[in-house]
Amino acid sequence: MRGFVLFTLTVIVIAVACAFPQQVQPPAHPAVEVVKQVSDVDINSYQFEFETSDGTIRQEQGDYKNDTEQQGLSVKGSYKYVAPDGQQIQVSYVADKNGYQPTEHAGSTASQPQA
Ligand SMILES: *[C@@H]1O[C@H](CO)[C@@H](O)[C@H](O)[C@H]1NC(C)=O
Repeated sequence: MRGFVLFTLTVIVIAVACAFPQQVQPPAHPAVEVVKQVSDVDINSYQFEFETSDGTIRQEQGDYKNDTEQQGLSVKGSYKYVAPDGQQIQVSYVADKNGYQPTEHAGSTASQPQA
């Protein structure tokens, strides 16, 4: 009788183990790594750039102007990333005496090669 109970319990344990196999799933959001990082800061200019493994790129440079045209910071930059819906967002901008002037570039799907 005792042997039969043990056998029955063993069968149940194996059946349950087969019904719910353990699956090793990759993480839903793999870790994003910095693949490029540049930074250069001078007394009247700067530039920086970084790029991450998820396709995000951000870069900007600024110059301190002191001439008849402008007195103050003149900045140019851009950023690019893949939105959650897969669309590639790309914006470049100028920020100077005329304010912040962004230009959005036509989006494309992430699988296409970058221009
Ligand atoms: C900007 O240029 C003027 C004229 O050369 C100079 O007098 C002034 O000190 C400069 N300002 C700065 C912040 O460099």
